[in-house]
Amino acid sequence: MDKPQSGDIVEVQIEDIGFEGNGIGRINSDFVLFIPNTVPGDIIKAKIRKVKKKFALAKTEEILVNSPVRTKPECSHFGSCNGCKLQNIDYYHQLNIKKRNVTSSFEKIGVFQGLTIPDVIGSDNIYYYRNKLEFSFSNNKWLSEEDFGKNTGNSFALGYHMPGFIDKVLDIEKCHLQSEISNRILNLTRDFFKTKKESIYSTKTSSGYLRYVIIRQSANINDAMVNLITLQEKKEIINKYAQKIKNEIPEITTLVNSISTSKAQVAKSEYSIIIFGKGYIEETIGKYKFKITPSSFFQTNTKQCEKLFNTVVEFADFSKNENVLDLYCGCGAISLYISGYVNKVFGVELSEESIKIAKENSSLNNINNCEFTSYDVKEFLKNLINKNEEKYDTIILDPPRSGIHPKSAEYLLRYEPKKIIYVSCNPTTQARDIKLLSEKYEITKIQPVDMFPHTFHIENVVRLDLKN
Ligand SMILES: C[S@@+](CC[C@H](N)C(=O)[O-])C[C@H]1O[C@@H](n2cnc3c(N)ncnc32)[C@H](O)[C@@H]1O
Repeated sequence: MDKPQSGDIVEVQIEDIGFEGNGIGRINSDFVLFIPNTVPGDIIKAKIRKVKKKFALAKTEEILVNSPVRTKPECSHFGSCNGCKLQNIDYYHQLNIKKRNVTSSFEKIGVFQGLTIPDVIGSDNIYYYRNKLEFSFSNNKWLSEEDFGKNTGNSFALGYHMPGFIDKVLDIEKCHLQSEISNRILNLTRDFFKTKKESIYSTKTSSGYLRYVIIRQSANINDAMVNLITLQEKKEIINKYAQKIKNEIPEITTLVNSISTSKAQVAKSEYSIIIFGKGYIEETIGKYKFKITPSSFFQTNTKQCEKLFNTVVEFADFSKNENVLDLYCGCGAISLYISGYVNKVFGVELSEESIKIAKENSSLNNINNCEFTSYDVKEFLKNLINKNEEKYDTIILDPPRSGIHPKSAEYLLRYEPKKIIYVSCNPTTQARDIKLLSEKYEITKIQPVDMFPHTFHIENVVRLDLKN
């Protein structure tokens, strides 16, 4: 297997798409190339950019043969933006790629051979499906690939971070993931603060006012929230901004100003001030209503979320006398959704704010068989085994992308619930965790659900049953 050199031009056929959404091709008897924005079936001329030990990164110089599954991306930012990397692939084929990725995770990482993975449940809306988008301010605007690592000077940008370049932001005019209202908010916000020559936060100096804008918009209720995250409070400018957005975008029902002094480049804040409106939005999933506050977790594709939760209900096949533990419960969305099918649900979640909202959501829906506690899942499971008071028949797991702690898997194996429903947004960590659980559990049902069209992300639901 000969390694190519940086700068070489090679001809390659794209065979597949990897987890990061890059096309995969092979040259020189099996040397792997990763090439962004390519489609399985394309034959291209590629220029080698970076050569690593076992693979190289390349870019397309020319498409020689277009894949039959290639389609025209809707978004003018496609190719620069890192968000919707699969937008040039027909949606049906995107689902096939995601199904292959789930299969490959379970075969290679979980070492589960011969599993039959059903077709992915697709999303009815493939554009404008998100209820939340997060944009960053930067005075270091991304211009083109050629300005990798260069400082482009004092330019004002509001959009998405370029991966690997902490300060660089691609200025977004129209994102196809959220509604037209969201795009109007984005552009008005940029124009307003640019005209006022307001300062932007810099990671180098830890100073500057503007940090992020988070837009949350309900899919089923006419609620829209703008959350402007800034380094400090500035009453005069925020009131002027409030007046402007109220006048020009009456669909905005609430404006919140969150303050973040953290040096970390994450849109989290220490506290929030309500500038107008109720300070949160409401949303429905099925017959349930949910309150969503500026920093609480909520599934981002509302419409598809109902299909996801229905899969959980169908897989669990609950009975009315069943007690269920909902681990990593966020604001209690799954707990409340399943409450009518079971005797009792107990939700566990690290975030105190989410637990507070989960309790409020429970009251909002007049539900009285759900309880919640703010606890680390690993510690909660450890205590549960030691106390051995309450027996839960079913445990639902819906951890973040990193999956569950190996100790949590160990405690689950000792606790031995009859069934586990594992919902995951990362099949690689899910397969790894299920491999640990397979000491006592077998996979009896599996179903991928596409919550994020055009991205390489996929949600996957697995039912595990205790072996006899
Ligand atoms: C994918 S979300 C689950 C959301 C929820 N099931 C829903 O559908 O809305 C994962 C949640 O796990 C929580 N979390 C992360 N680490 C945790 C831990 N060690 N213990 C408990 N909860 C944790 C996060 O705060 C987040 O709310």
